[in-house]
Amino acid sequence: MVQFTLPAGSSPVKGNDHKNETGASNLRKFHVYRYDPDVGGNPQIDTFELDLDTCGPMVLDAMIKIKDEIDATLTFRRSCREGVCGSCSFNIDGVNTLACTKPIAEIKGDVKIYPLPHMPVIKDLVCDLNQPYAQYAAVEPWIKADTPPPNRERLQSPEERAKLDGLWECILCFCCQTSCPSYWWNGDRFYGSAVLLQADRWVQDSRDEAKGERLSELNDSYKLFRCHTIMNCTAACPKSLNPGQSVAHLKAEIAKRE
Ligand code: SF4
Ligand code: FES
Repeated sequence: MVQFTLPAGSSPVKGNDHKNETGASNLRKFHVYRYDPDVGGNPQIDTFELDLDTCGPMVLDAMIKIKDEIDATLTFRRSCREGVCGSCSFNIDGVNTLACTKPIAEIKGDVKIYPLPHMPVIKDLVCDLNQPYAQYAAVEPWIKADTPPPNRERLQSPEERAKLDGLWECILCFCCQTSCPSYWWNGDRFYGSAVLLQADRWVQDSRDEAKGERLSELNDSYKLFRCHTIMNCTAACPKSLNPGQSVAHLKAEIAKRE
């Protein structure tokens, strides 16, 4: 059995316990990962006891209630509150998902909220996404075409447009990418599932003229081929997309050329 040793100072310790003393009966405990780089030391798990009768139904509602009413220093990203901006992705109850679309009622017992796994933490639940965003930029996520458009627009047939369904809906929340052991171990060189789904989105776009160039760039033992088809990505996606299928498609397109 392989033994892993965690870096010093990385194991969370028990933190503050915020009990609800209002006499409310519909209480639920939320265990939340906290880390303050200005203080240093180990991260800690703070516990907040909330009255669900005065809280919205989603995990994000509980987090906003904690920030508004109990501890204003709790730090996390969120924006749209309806599953389209991709900013409220956390590990909730052991699964990467969006806090704004995760009903508290779906979680049995205490609710655990941690940052996305294996990413450097900036503060509390905010992790550093510079690496996946740099990888996203590296796949050049825009139409590349030298031929002038025939009219004012580059048209697609309904069938060509349909090929982008299941791809354009990606909100870059990185729930998939950070659930992947290959990305945990090789994230500096493996592009990861979200970025590869985005790469596939442009490879499949009938208007793009750089398919060969894009596939050549991805034909690399790390960037694409560090995917070992574990498929955590597809299981994790809160938008029910299939990044694993995109990776398989890219590999097949490269195989066709060889
Ligand atoms: Fe998020 Fe799904 Fe896109 Fe991955 S494929 S980044 S999980 S929306
Ligand atoms: Fe935008 Fe959750 S706040 S996806």
